[in-house]
Amino acid sequence: MRIAHISDVHCNYGTDFNNKVYERAVKILNKVDADIVFISGDLTTDGLITEYEYAEEKLKEIEGKLVIVPGNHDERNLGWKLFPEFFGETDFIHTYDETNLIGLASSEPDKDNGRLGRGRHKLIEQGIRKNDKMTIIGFHHHVVPVPNSGRETNIIDDAGETLDIILKNKVPLVLMGHRHVPWAVKIHKTLLVNAGTFSCNRTRARFGNTFNIIDINDDKIEVTVVNIGKEKQKKMIEFDFEEGSCKNRYYDSNIDI
Ligand SMILES: [Fe+2]
Repeated sequence: MRIAHISDVHCNYGTDFNNKVYERAVKILNKVDADIVFISGDLTTDGLITEYEYAEEKLKEIEGKLVIVPGNHDERNLGWKLFPEFFGETDFIHTYDETNLIGLASSEPDKDNGRLGRGRHKLIEQGIRKNDKMTIIGFHHHVVPVPNSGRETNIIDDAGETLDIILKNKVPLVLMGHRHVPWAVKIHKTLLVNAGTFSCNRTRARFGNTFNIIDINDDKIEVTVVNIGKEKQKKMIEFDFEEGSCKNRYYDSNIDI
C-alpha cells in the first residue's frame, strides 16, 4: 500500500498560499501512484468560505482517492461548520484491504493547539478492535514536540493519554502535520510521522515545501520525503513494525534534499 501524505496546503488569497509551488507539487504527486492521498489538515488559512471554495477547486487537480481531516486553521471563523459541507466527515474509520485508517479532528475552533478528547480516544480503540487489519491514525496536530519547528505551544492537550492508547495498542503508524516540518520518530512499536507543508509560503529555514510518500509492505513502513522545489526525494526512515526496529535517519534539511 502506498500513501501520499500531504499537509498544510493553506489555500488563501493572502500571502500564505503559493500557487506556483502547488502546481509543481501536484504534478509530482500525480506521478506517485498512491492508493490514498491523506491530507492532515489546514487546507485553508482562516477557515473562510472563499478559502474553502478555493481549496475545493485546487484539490480537484489531485488524482486518486483523497482522505482529509481538518486543521486548526480550517476551524477559524466558524470554518468548522463549513468543513463537513466541503470535505465530509471529520472523524471516521475507513477500512481498506489490509488497513484501517482512523481520521480524527484534533482542532478546536479559534485555537492553535488541539485536543482529541475521550470520544475520539474511544474511536481509536474501536478502530483497533474492529478487525485484525493494521491500524493507521491520522490527525492534524502532533503528539510529541517536533524538532526545528520552534518553541512548543501547540501539542495536543491530551498528548499523554493519546500516546498511552497508541503505544499500549502498538499502533504501527500515526500521521500528522501542523508544524510545516517533515519528521519521523519511532517510539516502542509505533512510528510517528509528520508531513511538512505542501504549498504554504511559511516554510522553515531550508526545509522548503515537502510531502511524504509512505510505503507499507509486509511488516515494513518506509517514509520518503519529497522536496517539491528541488524535485528530489530521500528516504527518511525504514521501520519494521513487527520487530519494532528501525533504520533511523534523522532528517536534516542542510544535509538532505
Ligand atoms: Fe496547523
